[in-house]
Amino acid sequence: MIELDYRNCLAEEIGSEGISEEKFFSLKKHASGELEKIKKNPPGFMKLPLKFDNARKIKEDVKKYRKFKNLIVVGIGGSALGNITLKNMLSHTYYNQDRSGSFPNIYLLDNADPVWTLELSEIIDLKDTVFNVITKSGSTAETLSNFFFFLEKLKKETKNWKDHLVFTTGQKGFLREFASSNEIKTYPVPEDVGGRYSVLSEVGLFPAAAVGVDIESLLEGAADAEENEHVPITYAALQYYFYKKGKNISVFMPYSKKLESTADWFRQLWAESLGKNEKVGPTPVKAAGTTDQHSQLQLYMEGPKDKVYTFLSTKGTSADIKLNYDSHFLGGKTMRDLFNAELEGTMRALTEAGRPNMNFEIPEIDAYNAGELLYQLEMACAITGYMFGIDPFNQPGVEVGKKLAYEILGSKKEE
Ligand code: PA5
Repeated sequence: MIELDYRNCLAEEIGSEGISEEKFFSLKKHASGELEKIKKNPPGFMKLPLKFDNARKIKEDVKKYRKFKNLIVVGIGGSALGNITLKNMLSHTYYNQDRSGSFPNIYLLDNADPVWTLELSEIIDLKDTVFNVITKSGSTAETLSNFFFFLEKLKKETKNWKDHLVFTTGQKGFLREFASSNEIKTYPVPEDVGGRYSVLSEVGLFPAAAVGVDIESLLEGAADAEENEHVPITYAALQYYFYKKGKNISVFMPYSKKLESTADWFRQLWAESLGKNEKVGPTPVKAAGTTDQHSQLQLYMEGPKDKVYTFLSTKGTSADIKLNYDSHFLGGKTMRDLFNAELEGTMRALTEAGRPNMNFEIPEIDAYNAGELLYQLEMACAITGYMFGIDPFNQPGVEVGKKLAYEILGSKKEE
């Protein structure tokens, strides 16, 4: 199970900047009370881990898309970040370069930058490509612009363009209507699951299964997270406390290249869920260990005491490199020894400087633990939102930005 080492948040470790035992105890009680309230009327994301039939069906379905050499996933925000996270966490780093065997190469388009889209179109053969277009509303302009560009090309360059499309979309909106009138294969986005909580729904499951991720195990990990509720409860209590104490920046710093994208996913989860009412809003910041020790650590150590730090680490990997340069202090050590020492050194330095920090310890990077981690963070986010007394499941601010962009383009309202 994933554990959260929070000792470096306690007053007995970091002095007056830390949380006292009594306060910690009472805030954990507050957090667990909020979790009980949430469970009485569980939001959609809490039902996803038990949808094993769903996962089995998708696992079967994707087999017919393995004949394609490329899978292009088009989506943005909650319809993209979970997929990027799963792909980076659970497949080979250079997957697209050296794994053109039994699974398709995967490309993720989560922007509307024509340069980026054109460059991708230059290197792929559309005859060998299937698209998974993901949008819950069915009308997000960035996603549709990529879709329209490739649709036109598919019609020109392939025999049966419809066979190259799979949509994951809600019950309404442009894409749903297009699918119905053109008989395109679709997966639903459950109505009661918001974008940033959708990684364990069809949104995340189809692309993950297509590239060989064990999606049943992913759901199992999430389902088992329920037995480990003290982790999200503790995390929510600490995040709430430190925000209230003026530490309004929440740094999320994985020490693992494979886990780096979880920081992008976390950033959206935290920002869109908790930035509300002009009163609440911890600012989530992404950092990567060890890289950002050489970029951000000076600020973290000696800048304002307005931050709380979350590390993510794993000890359970056998991959390592022995360094055989005897006359140097690194000689005889391994690269993992160095990596772990850097993490420990950073945590110790922050602790000595009175800066609260905690560490998610992940036994191993695999589908099971990915499910558990993402689900724990989703639960923690929901609990934190309830503690603040705000709705962690809406995003009215995002909707305003979308509406104005459509107005600028001449459409009076979002379809
Ligand atoms: O979390 C959210 O609700 C948003 O970030 C959406 O996922 C994002 O705006 C994309 O929306 P859609 O899936 O409707 O294209």
